[in-house]
Amino acid sequence: MQVCGTPYRTVWLDPEDQRCLRVINQSLLPHRFETLALYTPHDVARVISEMHIRGAGCIGVTAAYGMYLGACTAPQDSYHDYLHEVGALLTETRPTAVNLSWAVQRMLRVALSAHSLQMLQDRTRDEAQKIADEDVAHCRAIGEYGLPLIEEIYARTQKPVEILTHCNAGWLAFVDHGSATAPIYAAHRRGIPVHVWVDVTGPRNQGSRLTAWELLQEGVPHTIIADNTGGYLFQHNAIDMVITGADCVTRQGDAANKIGTYLKALAAREHSVPFYVALPSSTFDFSRTDGLTEIPIEKRGSHEVTYAYGENDEGVFSRVRIAPAESPAANWGFDVTPARFITELITERGRCVPTWENIRTLFPEASSA
Ligand code: MRU
Repeated sequence: MQVCGTPYRTVWLDPEDQRCLRVINQSLLPHRFETLALYTPHDVARVISEMHIRGAGCIGVTAAYGMYLGACTAPQDSYHDYLHEVGALLTETRPTAVNLSWAVQRMLRVALSAHSLQMLQDRTRDEAQKIADEDVAHCRAIGEYGLPLIEEIYARTQKPVEILTHCNAGWLAFVDHGSATAPIYAAHRRGIPVHVWVDVTGPRNQGSRLTAWELLQEGVPHTIIADNTGGYLFQHNAIDMVITGADCVTRQGDAANKIGTYLKALAAREHSVPFYVALPSSTFDFSRTDGLTEIPIEKRGSHEVTYAYGENDEGVFSRVRIAPAESPAANWGFDVTPARFITELITERGRCVPTWENIRTLFPEASSA
């Protein structure tokens, strides 16, 4: 994607210093566009757990590069053990997004085939690049498979297609293109008029801060709405379709995504509005079946609920308390939408109604997981 005319990915190796990983600092958006330079796997673990980078795809790819940085900083005499420690450190940072553990496991498999530290560094760098490139290709394909859904609505209504999305499943949540946004960008580029309703997505406001910023960069018409507005819009026929991303999808098609997604799926069902979940294959966990009981849900600090963060008119970042100091607060990061509320999954291999039979037809490798 372009930022002020310059093409960017969310994460990349510095071309002048291949031991430096650069990432977009998402916690400063939309106020400032800055990048961070990371040199160690501990730097990577910190930016993931503090959410300077976030979004399932993006943290998976960043963790893969974190494993490569682990290879670059590993002791000569115990590099395999060290890389396992790094893998455990990175995996612990955020428990719900399965892309993270998937990327770490894939990197560990490659690491095992290395017989010298130099080979370990070369192979982990190449594998991390491959994971990043695949992420881009898969998101692009999701866009192509999702596009006909938008085209069909436009052909029928001849009005801008009204799409609701929750959180940020855009290019910032991956390496490029995004998952939920990929069909939207594909439609917009082909001249199909779309309008996106962007849930603010409290408490961290990834919708109003990040999705709105992305859509603005791409010139896609959109409107930010409070998280509770969806019901009103459904009642007034103002939404044609919902597209969200996912952080983990089970073999029966249950999908974990940012807290509040489930309520949108319930409302969509009540109003017979199609509800789509867009995901690359790295977001499937074929070893899990029942999302409600088997997907670990991340709980984050209560301060995210009781404080608001932002930049004031003088350009100073600060946080302000927005709740009584004595009130306890709870902060679950994700919820699970059962498969029966999902109209279709949109993947890089095509779309399907989420059932085990359909999923394993698209992904035969799921049968052996
Ligand atoms: O807590 P975040 O910002 O990492 O949550 C992100 C989401 O919930 C996205 O919708 C999700 O990762 C799906 S798109 C990769």
